[in-house]
Amino acid sequence: MVAVDGPSGTGKSTAARRLAGSLGAAYLDTGAMYRAVTLAVLRAGREPTDQEAVAEVARRCRVEMRTDPQHPGVTLDGVDVASEIRGAAVTEAVSAVSAVAEVREIMVAQQRRLITVATTPVGGIVVEGRDVGTVVSPEAGLKVYLTASSEARACRRSAQDAAAGRESDPRRVRADVTRRDSLDSNRGIAPLRMAEDAVLVDTTELDLEQVLRRLHDLVAQRG
Ligand code: C5P
Repeated sequence: MVAVDGPSGTGKSTAARRLAGSLGAAYLDTGAMYRAVTLAVLRAGREPTDQEAVAEVARRCRVEMRTDPQHPGVTLDGVDVASEIRGAAVTEAVSAVSAVAEVREIMVAQQRRLITVATTPVGGIVVEGRDVGTVVSPEAGLKVYLTASSEARACRRSAQDAAAGRESDPRRVRADVTRRDSLDSNRGIAPLRMAEDAVLVDTTELDLEQVLRRLHDLVAQRG
């Protein structure tokens, strides 16, 4: 199993998914799970900062993940929400929702089940997120922590938003990237941080193919 953690805009999702595809492994985007719960909270008309209400929504909503790297997917109560979870409303609220202890307990349990299914008896899985190497799967065979300068990350996020037809004011994107990093890194439970035994890969000056080459080298070194 490969754990890929790091802040947003490092190229984590694309690199993790492509790596899984070329290794013939499954792929799990844990951020999409927190985003789906956030969408459920917003649809229920609850405040993302109301921890009790958020926990209640998390207990009763059903988030399901498709782990095929060619066709990854996420459903909320049986309905595909892959594009809706990328919208501004969810992005704005997700860090508050993902800081709630009960949300994390439910999501981490589900992530561990998916990892067990994908790695038994053979196969493998590439899992990306913020706490995969530190909390979800500290025993992962390879842990990678992707990072990049905040300018590069904001730039990538803007380009992704523009490509997907979403609003992409660079100043706003940059403010959002900084705000989410700070909330995700400073929360009490499972904050974003590099595992002690993770390999740091700075993607500021690397394109996707170079990042993939580095990841493949790391996989090959770990056997
Ligand atoms: O990766 P992505 O930007 O889609 O993640 C959205 C949010 O989900 C993050 O900003 C973070 O608050 C939360 N998250 C988390 N733990 C993970 C993955 C994502 O708290 N393992």
